[in-house]
Amino acid sequence: QPCLNTHIGQLPLDSYIFNASGPLCTSEEELIRLAGSASAAVMTKSCTILPREGNAEPRYQALPLGSIQSMGLPNLGYQAYLEMLPRLKKAGNKPIVVSVSGFSVADNVTMVKAFQSSCADLIEVNFSCPNIEGKPQLGYDFEQTEQALEAICQLGDKPIGLKLPPYFDFSHFITMADIIKKFPVSFITCINSVGNTLVIDAETETAIIKPKGGFGGLCGDYIKPIGLANVRAFRQLLPDNIDIIGVGGIKTGTDAFEYLLAGASAVQVATCFEKEGVECFDRIAQELQSLMAAKQYSSIAAVKGKLKVI
Ligand code: DOR
Repeated sequence: QPCLNTHIGQLPLDSYIFNASGPLCTSEEELIRLAGSASAAVMTKSCTILPREGNAEPRYQALPLGSIQSMGLPNLGYQAYLEMLPRLKKAGNKPIVVSVSGFSVADNVTMVKAFQSSCADLIEVNFSCPNIEGKPQLGYDFEQTEQALEAICQLGDKPIGLKLPPYFDFSHFITMADIIKKFPVSFITCINSVGNTLVIDAETETAIIKPKGGFGGLCGDYIKPIGLANVRAFRQLLPDNIDIIGVGGIKTGTDAFEYLLAGASAVQVATCFEKEGVECFDRIAQELQSLMAAKQYSSIAAVKGKLKVI
């Protein structure tokens, strides 16, 4: 069997596939289920300073090739996750990644500081939530991104990563990569949902989700080519010691393999996990192993970034 062992920063992972911050990782019950699953790590829902109910419903709709959602960061508040971490660690004995999504630099500093002295293994700072009215995605503002990184990268020794929005222009890939290189960022996670898309039901002549008049983040199969492009572009622009986690439309071993070719060190699953539950992690891992075996690859490292071009 090909080996799916990998690492993010210096942190070893027993598998290449885990959950994305998003569905089914908000409550303790959900996180304990992830701890007991084949997910390579337990990733938490992005937290904020205070607990949040999130946006008005309907705020999630499944689509033929994925989903659209505007959840609005429903979460228990960072202190609940801080308090829960030792139990999650005990339940799974596997790496824990916490996601923080402050509404200001000060919020992010407070939360990163707190998790720096917790038993979390990695901290993923969400610079790309598209669903909070009046709060632009930080990752689209290069100046503010740099200011935020200045404040959050020096708060402790635990590896810090950034969850980035999708970029669509090479000038943006280059500018962002140049900023990331100035700081001790250990990993980036590409991509968050494609923000502020609109799906319309022609029969009822209505937007299909309620928040923001129907604008929401597009997820699933629709966005895989965008995720692949972002992983590939950043892999070419960043030094090897910054790992890239791929997200966006991964539901089969082939999808996971494509992200590996593009240069991902690991992948995260959201929409497919929402649909299928924790069984998806073992299934996708087995599919990836079968594909790698058929192609006579024995390790993640043998394939990572090896995309051919014509
Ligand atoms: O698409 C997203 N939805 N990205 C985020 O970062 C947050 C999430 C939400 O809760 O709205």
